[in-house]
Amino acid sequence: MRSMSDVTDAASILRAGGLVAFPTETVYGLGADATNVAAVEKIFRAKGRPSTNPLIVHVADESVARRYAADWPETATTLARHFWPGPLTLVLPKRSSIVDLVTAGRGTVGLRAPNHPLTLRLLQQFDGPLAGPSANRSNHLSPTTAQHVRDDLGNAFDLILDGGPCEIGIESTVLDLTTNPPTILRPGGTSRDQIEQQIGPIQILSGSVLAETAAVSPGQHALHYAPKAAAFRFEAEQAKEIIRQYANQKEPVAIVLLSPVTSPSPKVKSMSTDPVEYARTLYSTLREFDYQKVETIYIEMPPNSPAWAAVRDRIKRATQCLSASRR
Ligand code: TXA
Ligand code: MG
Repeated sequence: MRSMSDVTDAASILRAGGLVAFPTETVYGLGADATNVAAVEKIFRAKGRPSTNPLIVHVADESVARRYAADWPETATTLARHFWPGPLTLVLPKRSSIVDLVTAGRGTVGLRAPNHPLTLRLLQQFDGPLAGPSANRSNHLSPTTAQHVRDDLGNAFDLILDGGPCEIGIESTVLDLTTNPPTILRPGGTSRDQIEQQIGPIQILSGSVLAETAAVSPGQHALHYAPKAAAFRFEAEQAKEIIRQYANQKEPVAIVLLSPVTSPSPKVKSMSTDPVEYARTLYSTLREFDYQKVETIYIEMPPNSPAWAAVRDRIKRATQCLSASRR
């Protein structure tokens, strides 16, 4: 199989300090050896990412993760055994072998084992820590296909492992285990409820899209995961009015609804009412609008319930509130 020889090439490229774009179950990552400063610098350059925003480090499994965490509490064991490989990043005190650039000078490192066969094979062959943010230009939507990565980054990397479309479609949950109780810094593919079932009560960084919390997890500021089009969110009650106002305009707009479409307008796109399926298609749907040169996107907010927490978080980061913008 071609992809297996690609994995061997990818491992050599990483050892030589190069950049490899890799598939995960959440989104594609842009990877480099987390112990090599020059290699990690290339990631920041390719993405145009500010060096104040720390990178997640990918590992094959718990035993490799333990090599890079200076402290490994009982909760980490429980969570890694239950959720890895999978969409959960654990923030723990770091060892010095992880270069400071990876963690933006912090004393902690975010570790996760991604659940994708190609990338797990790569991590086993490379046998090191793989620094890997999402493989998009900084502040743009995370890529969920290899083509998205090529469209965003051109040839700013040495090799891409094409693992097909990502199954989960939004990023991992980032959980800080250095606080008591542990804190969700970014909701994602593993829910609060799932985590609490394993380790008991945790807290969620509230108002995480506000600027003042940027110091805790710098990727958490507003408009971090945005399409190129101007994008606005609205509440379900406003849907009828939005359709009436915009569905028949000449301008290239798109209206994204949760409920099944009753309007036949080609401008109206209805999403799945299942949060898992919605998450899987969210970024690719928004990118599709960018490809179609849509200028304005209006997105209906899903219900304010735990099952929708991660999707609501990403919509908030991708949009401005429509009613606020009209004031
Ligand atoms: O699903 C994912 O997590 C994807 C795939 C590629 O694994 N990666 C990803 O990486 O989304 P990135 O760099 O786009 O987002 C990492 C997030 C940022 O919000 C960053 O601030 C936070 O994790 N983070 C990383 N290390 C941290 C640390 N030591 N302390 C606090 N936050 C951290
Ligand atoms: Mg990202």
